[in-house]
Amino acid sequence: MKLLLTGGAGYIGSHVAALAEREGHSVTIVDDLSTGIANRIPRPVVDINLASTESVERLSRLMRETEFDAVIHLAARKQVGQSVEIPEQYFLDNIGGLANLLLAMREHDVKKLVFSSSAATYGMPTLDLVDEDYPGVPINPYGQTKLAGEWMVKNAAAWGLRGVNLRYFNVAGSESKKLADTAELNLIPIAIAQLKRGEQPIVFGTDYPTPDGSCIRDYVHVEDLAKAHLMAVGYLDRPVQEFATFNVGTGQGASVLEVLEELREASGIEFEEVLADRRPGDPPRLVANTNRIEKMLGFKASFGLKEIVKSAWDAAN
Ligand code: WQD
Repeated sequence: MKLLLTGGAGYIGSHVAALAEREGHSVTIVDDLSTGIANRIPRPVVDINLASTESVERLSRLMRETEFDAVIHLAARKQVGQSVEIPEQYFLDNIGGLANLLLAMREHDVKKLVFSSSAATYGMPTLDLVDEDYPGVPINPYGQTKLAGEWMVKNAAAWGLRGVNLRYFNVAGSESKKLADTAELNLIPIAIAQLKRGEQPIVFGTDYPTPDGSCIRDYVHVEDLAKAHLMAVGYLDRPVQEFATFNVGTGQGASVLEVLEELREASGIEFEEVLADRRPGDPPRLVANTNRIEKMLGFKASFGLKEIVKSAWDAAN
């Protein structure tokens, strides 16, 4: 298939690109390299800032040259804290970028889209395993832009778009050093970077209503997530799509302390974590109900926490 992949020089996007090529697809990457890294991928990227005024015209040119079968849209800003500081920029880039992409797709009759959404759309869920029908309310601008993006994908059904929203849980791990998550923005890369600097990882909150008091998340290996994208493209080929939104997780929760225990093992470093206060806005537990994606897409994560943490450590060393 001919795929247009936005954000393909990013940590997740480069894993999607690598897998798509291994599966025999031809992939064109659009990335403005604002956070992406060009040498993650073996070919030049088309440098388009999707939120810019000229983007529809530039995307149109690309779509005139190549008749894409589907678009996988990952290009976006993704830092929760930053989204609280500069919400307008998040709405401009995440919503404006998607609007421009949809305008170009509509003009060129490209009717299949896989959209990178997030478990941040759920806000503070109270279910042990949160399912896609849970009426979540995002608690930060980042999550709001992702939920609004899902609405945009849904509305575009009016002109014939078939869209899938993938709600990522906590993505980590790496297939290689080259594709490693080098940004220190999430627990596993932050803790690895701290250990490499001789510092101790920090646990934000040890008094949550969880068995060990630290927050529980659903960590999913980035290679499994990449696989889910290609399965979603396959799903859009079916004559009818019963659902548009899918959780991508493992259905297994792990606490911050459990993650750090795996890191102790993977690194061989006998560190003592620093027990700190809660970080504002953290739900105590966020774990995916994976029934829908298993049933409809046949997706099941093949890697567990041990492999995730070990691959992240190996990629960073
Ligand atoms: C995980 C847990 C922290 C750092 C965010 C977004 C979500 C998705 C993934 C994009 C929490 C704790 C962290 C540290 C810690 N992003 N922690 N010490 O907040 O679950 O999810 O990233 O779609 O939308 O909200 O991920 O990795 O920041 O934190 O104790 O140094 O680790 O408090 O419980 P989070 P995270």
